[in-house]
Amino acid sequence: MAATVDSPETRIYLDHGATSWPKPPGVIEAVANGLTVLAANPGRGAYRFALDTSRAIHSARRDVATFLGVADTHDLSFQPGCTQAMNLVLLGLLVPGDRVVACSMEHNAVARPLNALAARGVEVVVVDADEAGVVDADEVEAVVAAGRTRAVVCQHAGNVTGAIQPIPDLGDIAHANGALLLVDGAQAGGHLPVDLGRLGADAWACSGHKGLLGPQGVGVLYLAPTCEPAELVSGGTGGGSSEDPLQPLARPERYEAGTPNTPGILGLGASVRFLSEHAEELRSHEAVLVRQLHEGILDLDGFSVLGPSLGAPRVPIVSVVHDRISADRLAFALDRRYGVAARAGLHCAPWAHRTLGTVDAGALRFGLGYGNTPDDVGTVLNALRELVGELT
Ligand code: ALA
Repeated sequence: MAATVDSPETRIYLDHGATSWPKPPGVIEAVANGLTVLAANPGRGAYRFALDTSRAIHSARRDVATFLGVADTHDLSFQPGCTQAMNLVLLGLLVPGDRVVACSMEHNAVARPLNALAARGVEVVVVDADEAGVVDADEVEAVVAAGRTRAVVCQHAGNVTGAIQPIPDLGDIAHANGALLLVDGAQAGGHLPVDLGRLGADAWACSGHKGLLGPQGVGVLYLAPTCEPAELVSGGTGGGSSEDPLQPLARPERYEAGTPNTPGILGLGASVRFLSEHAEELRSHEAVLVRQLHEGILDLDGFSVLGPSLGAPRVPIVSVVHDRISADRLAFALDRRYGVAARAGLHCAPWAHRTLGTVDAGALRFGLGYGNTPDDVGTVLNALRELVGELT
């Protein structure tokens, strides 16, 4: 699926794991609409300008809920991002004395709040993933059953490996042991079909700006009725002010204190409407590109690909290491000489790199997505071939 890219600096953008770019049709217009014609503060004043904005936010919530299989829109709150949402879930649920089981591939959005909770007396048990970056459900089950576990937390898909975790199995394990399953869906939303009515997650969070193709500054948090973290932020919700001034418990207001990010929410509504029509086509396209890139890299001298083997399921992330050239050096040369944007380093995921044995030097990550073409992948493979010839 080709898209117009008009930055003079970057001709081939392969950092969709960090954020999607460019945005699909309708997103920029919807963001602009949120600053022009639907720009009053929603849910507060009763004048028509505000009511129209409230209705537009309601439509965006309904469309995102439908896309993700959420039956009741009250269970879906808009958040500033996935990091904020995962912090809300973890810090709002877990208290000293609780036990939580996590996967060793977690991004810092989960690892850092878990470290903070561990310092406060929450027992955090980390289960190592295998060399493909996938956690073994049987191992998780044994660890969960070994103590009184309050929650299991796991990424849906890995931001370093693209590996997909066995979320439905983890849901069964958590529930059989009286625990909640909390899922960081940052790399899954848009790239995988997600039906939250059936997935088994009690909480599932996602950035709006990655695979969901919306703008930065907005994310979503699904909370099953069984999952009621305390709010992290209290404040105005547009109602309930005549009562005792505590945060109302009604959803989604409980988790949406303060003026919402209307431009971001409307942009996300537009991107999700685009995905509702094109997601399947886009996923097939991404799978073809991933295979082309993975196969091509395996043909090059000195490279290995982290994560799942060729042809095994993954989201469109392909991270590589070279046995003689550092990831940083490759990323720099790709950008400056070939106009290819790819992210080198630890990807805010030192746990994952430690698990994979790449924490000292990091890796070079290609995140494919909307707008990339087979020609882009061909250019990258040729560039890597040339660089290996020159730099080794
Ligand atoms: N979490 C984003 C990434 O993996 C920023 O690059």
